[in-house]
Amino acid sequence: MSWNRPLVLGIETSCDDTACAVVDGTGRVLSSVVSSQLKAHRPYGGVVPEIASREHLQSWPQVSRKALEQAEIELSEIDAVAATRGPGLIGSLLVGLSLGRAIAFALRRPFHGMHHLEGHLFSPFLGTDRCQDASAIPAAFIGLVVSGGHASILEVRDDTIRSLVETRDDAMGEVFDKVGKRLGLPYPQGPRLDVLAERGDESHFRFSVPRQQDEPFFSFSGLKSQALRQIEKLEEQDLLPRRSANDAPVEDLPRPALDLLSGFRRAAVGQILDRLERLHTERRFVDLAVSGGVAANRLLRRELEPWAEKRGVTLRLVPLVYASDNAAMIAFAALERERRGMPDDPRAVVASRIPFAS
Ligand code: KG4
Ligand code: ZN
Repeated sequence: MSWNRPLVLGIETSCDDTACAVVDGTGRVLSSVVSSQLKAHRPYGGVVPEIASREHLQSWPQVSRKALEQAEIELSEIDAVAATRGPGLIGSLLVGLSLGRAIAFALRRPFHGMHHLEGHLFSPFLGTDRCQDASAIPAAFIGLVVSGGHASILEVRDDTIRSLVETRDDAMGEVFDKVGKRLGLPYPQGPRLDVLAERGDESHFRFSVPRQQDEPFFSFSGLKSQALRQIEKLEEQDLLPRRSANDAPVEDLPRPALDLLSGFRRAAVGQILDRLERLHTERRFVDLAVSGGVAANRLLRRELEPWAEKRGVTLRLVPLVYASDNAAMIAFAALERERRGMPDDPRAVVASRIPFAS
């Protein structure tokens, strides 16, 4: 297996996935290992921060060993280390960042403290094959990042990254998870909600898309409230069994609930398309890169393709393996930061929120 320098070791522990990866100088992912903590958090229906930190500490030796083995390299061959410094859960971030800084110190190599969103932002350019170079990244492009913690449209131009649209309240994945949880779907609810929504008829429930004002923004909490109210109505009408807190999670749902989820998903995706359309009318961008866990959403992927094609926009949808949190995207973003000559603070400490501006 041939590779090019520099070899970057990526570490990502911002939430509930312990991830380690090795990416080479041309953006080839030599290895990307993600250890999920699903089992540990599932009994609680969501991520428990305290448990997440412990799980990261426990999984790290195995995850990092596997990443080096799969890449067929020794730790001493690593040229730089990059770890997520935020945003995320403080305890979780501290584990990955401390490990990363310690490794970089021991190897006497540079360390990059990375913004989690920056990792997602460049991930659509990663190749899916182990021997594949990453695609060339345009000097300027628009990035849509939709995940459990974010709904953002960012503009990358040379060495600056600027936020254009942010959510005023909930993130997109967050509302998928909350609506799914209310219906009793097991954690993480977003992907399951997506699968169930495929079987519903979206025309039965109409949800409104919040009106855009002068300042562009996303807002998903109104949609969440509308969906939760509709669920309550279905229960009152005995079209959906009532649930109590201790009930076991459900795998399937009756027809009216499927229709509701379908309409809900349509409205959420509709809001994304509405904001992109406005932005495109305003600035006629030609490159769009879509990333984050919610970029795996079936309807979103289906809708974006014809939308982009019709407008002559080159669309890069993140490969499904790199949609949810992983460390390859963190290592790759560090490489990209170096390539673009963007400033970096090797002494960066963790932060649960970091404004996205550079
Ligand atoms: O990027 P990610 O792994 O973690 C964060 O940075 O937040 O995104 C996880 C989020 C979760 O909210 C999950 O439910 C959501 O992405 N998600 C989906 C789908 N797959 C994952 N939401 C809707 N449809 C999907 N297919
Ligand atoms: Zn993420």
